[in-house]
Formats: sequence, C-alpha cells, structure tokens
Amino acid sequence: MTSPITEASATPLGDLLVLGAGGHAAVVAESAERAGWRVIGCAAGSGALPMTASNLGDPDGAAAAEIDAAVARGVRLHAAVGSAEVRARWMQRFGAGSFATVVDPSSSVSPSATLAEGASIGAGAVVQARAVIGPGAIVNTRAVVEHDCTVGACAHIAPAAVLCGSVTVGAWAQIGAGAVVIPGRRVGERSVVGAGAVVVRDLPADITAMGVPARATAPSPTR
Ligand SMILES: CC(C)(COP(=O)(O)OP(=O)(O)OC[C@H]1O[C@@H](n2cnc3c(N)ncnc32)[C@H](O)[C@@H]1OP(=O)(O)O)[C@@H](O)C(=O)NCCC(=O)NCCS
Repeated sequence: MTSPITEASATPLGDLLVLGAGGHAAVVAESAERAGWRVIGCAAGSGALPMTASNLGDPDGAAAAEIDAAVARGVRLHAAVGSAEVRARWMQRFGAGSFATVVDPSSSVSPSATLAEGASIGAGAVVQARAVIGPGAIVNTRAVVEHDCTVGACAHIAPAAVLCGSVTVGAWAQIGAGAVVIPGRRVGERSVVGAGAVVVRDLPADITAMGVPARATAPSPTR
C-alpha cells in the first residue's frame, strides 16, 4: 500500500519557505511536506527546520530582500511563529498572494469551510461545515472548529481545543490547549483563554480568562 506521504509527493504543490524556525515552524513544515509542498528552507533569526539546514536569516532584517526575490520566483511563504503580532506583520510586509495555506493531510476540512491565505490546519484537526478560518490563523493539532464558527485573522486555536458550533474568535485571540468554547459564544480580539478553560459567556477583547467556567483575570499579555 502506498503511504500518504508518497502520494502527496507525487503531486507537488510547489516550493515553500517557512518564516520561523522554532517548534511551531517545525510542526508546520512537516505538515507542509506531508501535504505535498517542497520546503526549501526557513527564514528566522536563528535555528533550522528538521528537513533543511537552509536559513536565510531574520525576515525583519537582512533576509527581507531575499524573501522578496524568492516570492518573485514563485516561492510561497508561510508565517509559522506563535506570536499573532509577528505573523500579521510578516503577512503585511511580504504581501497578499505570497502566503500558502498549509493543511495537514490527516486533518478533516469540510468542503463548505473557508480557509484564508496563510492559515494552518494541524494534524488531526477538524474544521466543520461553513466554518471560516481567517488569514494567518492556526487551527493546531487535533483542535476542533465546529460548524459555522469564525476564527479571526492570526487567531490561534491551540492543540485539542474545541470550538462548538457558531463560535466567533476575534483576530489575534488565543484559545488555550484543551479549552472549550460552548456554542454561540464570542471571544474578543486579542484575548487569551487559558489551557483547559470552558468559556460559557462572551468574553470581551484584550483580557485573559481561565478556569471552569472561564473568568477574566487580567489584561491579555503583549502578543
Ligand atoms: C492562562 C495563561 C495565559 C496565564 O498565563 P500567566 O498569566 O503567565 O499565568 P501564571 O502562570 O503566572 O499563573 C497565574 C495563576 O493562574 C493559574 N493558572 C495559570 N494557567 C491556568 C489555567 N490554564 N487554568 C487555571 N489556572 C491557571 C496559576 O496556577 C496561577 O495561580 P496562583 O496565582 O494561584 O498560583 C496560561 O497559563 C495558559 O493557560 N496559556 C495557554 C497555553 C497554551 O495552551 N498554549 C498553546 C501552545 S500551542
């Protein structure tokens, strides 16, 4: 039997340059290769990806011109760092149309869902009917985004978090690992929901909330 990796490699999606070289970048780069991208290297202040030693350097510094040249040659980019602010900055700097959406082949994405440019869908994640995943957003390993949810630009749904139906997560917000947001609730822009929390009421923008039920405890940390 042919492995999914071999099948994906037979129909390459193109060359991908990953911005970032930390743990999340390694995870996304491996998803990208399984999906059929050829990861040609990374651009980061330091570090390397498991499949390539090539690092162009800091996207905010000297590497910017080389990244522009790669884009001009048809290479696609993916911003793979945990900071929503940095992902948003890089997506703005290197431009609409330059970023690839990375979907791990072990995920399940509804044909009626919408995935914006630069989003990533991790291994075993589920994105259900009519969900909308914004630009640069992360639906991480085994997270569940149920029907009719909206995940804002550069928001992060951490591993094993569950958004029940019709949830709205604002731009740059983070839903912590294993957290649950019950149906129809809204999490405001830039807010952080702690790991394991259960969100039962709407949360405003710019707060941190944790616990069961989730309660706001502090302003959200600088992203
Ligand atoms: C909620 C969170 C953002 C708070 O971070 P923080 O402000 O640095 O909090 P601290 O570690 O200083 O802890 C402050 C207090 O909150 C408690 N706390 C921290 N996280 C908690 C959580 N998820 N649930 C319940 N209580 C929590 C701590 O025990 C501590 O309590 P204490 O004052 O009684 O000792 C963080 O703990 C968290 O859960 N982040 C999500 C991480 C995640 O899922 N990342 C995904 C990576 S892929």
